Amino acid sequence: MFARAALLRSTIPRFASTSPRFFSTTKPNMVKIVAVLYTAGKYGDAQPRLLGTVENKLGIADWLKQQGHEFIVTADKDSPDSEFRQHVKDAEIVITTPFHPAYLTAEVLESAKNLKCCITAGVGSDHVDLDVANKKNISVYEVTGSNVVSVAEHVVMTILVLVRNFVPANRQYLEGDWNVAEVARESYDLEGKVVGTLGSGRIGTRVLQRLKPFDCAKLTYYDYQRNDFLEKETGAVRVEDLKEFLSELDVLTINCPLYEGTKGLIDAEKISWMKKGAWIVNTARGAIVNAKDVKAALASGHLRGYGGDVTDQQPPPKDHPFYTMAASHSGGIPYQHGVGGNAMTPHISGTSIDAQIRYANGVKEILDNYFNGKPQTPANIIVEKGQYATKAYGQRK
Ligand code: NAI
Repeated sequence: MFARAALLRSTIPRFASTSPRFFSTTKPNMVKIVAVLYTAGKYGDAQPRLLGTVENKLGIADWLKQQGHEFIVTADKDSPDSEFRQHVKDAEIVITTPFHPAYLTAEVLESAKNLKCCITAGVGSDHVDLDVANKKNISVYEVTGSNVVSVAEHVVMTILVLVRNFVPANRQYLEGDWNVAEVARESYDLEGKVVGTLGSGRIGTRVLQRLKPFDCAKLTYYDYQRNDFLEKETGAVRVEDLKEFLSELDVLTINCPLYEGTKGLIDAEKISWMKKGAWIVNTARGAIVNAKDVKAALASGHLRGYGGDVTDQQPPPKDHPFYTMAASHSGGIPYQHGVGGNAMTPHISGTSIDAQIRYANGVKEILDNYFNGKPQTPANIIVEKGQYATKAYGQRK
């Protein structure tokens, strides 16, 4: 009880009682803001801290209303006549989450005549065509760091779920059966395995920090940016050649942004560089891997398992390869119970309740800076004034 009260206290936005705009008697210029969030339905009332939802509106609806702003919140985003596509035409600010993203393609950005600012409630702004945003001088901000612990925990969980062969074991049990051999034949220890992260930023670093006590044979990373902190903290080794990096791994964890340099990076050829029987965990972005190639590698037995929470289109179409992919373990003996080697979930790793509180507060802070002409926290700036401010979206001149 005390811990919960402390958590709530610690998450009250620090500017809530100090913002001059909040108490201002002069009415500010009205700004039209469109937020695209996911629907909570009955869960929204039961859990008011599901903040990243249409029902709970990031907890900022009253605050924006008091300042005279127009705040449209919708989950309807994909069709050309969706609420989002209608409202974006004259909105100044768009807020969306990577969990149910409004895709700000070149065409949508072209239609958005007043758009000045896109805010990602979370981390990862690949749903915006960043090059076009730059050309049109639209700023893109995200709440950097807000959910990196949440994702790192999910990655470690998914690695263990795959390596220990947990999913079919659990299904077997829930179906009232008891067959140790069926599951144990493909259940291993993480100790002694080689684990590498593609991308060694905030999440990649936290994943390897959390894996250190598991006594893996080796921790490695592949990134064009050297990470001295990671090397010192975990003993991780940087591998500069992608083929060499992939060919050593038992477990690959993908933790880099999606952009032209990483789109489709992990395809049939790259998977063939990995050891037979390796596992991949991808919580970064679905389009970094080729979904059909992953499914084929699981079916052939080259990959033993794949897990994560992201797909190239969200929500994915019902015939998406990830819904039906399964490993062909142990000479192709099919599992009696459910699928082995598939540890997919909907996009939940970065939207734990703790993460939602952090990214909702972060969005409010970004808006407050925007309304008051204050500079944004540098780490939150993806593009601004027609330029990439981040070094994470590829090496650019
Ligand atoms: P970060 O910006 O701290 O680190 C990204 C790292 O990737 C940087 O060190 C960058 O140099 C590296 N990188 C970029 N291109 C690369 C390439 N071609 N090869 C190797 N490394 C490359 O970002 P952070 O916070 O660690 O997040 C990483 C990504 O994870 C985000 O961009 C987002 O797409 C995803 N994410 C997913 C979430 C989820 O809920 N599933 C939540 C948060 C982030």
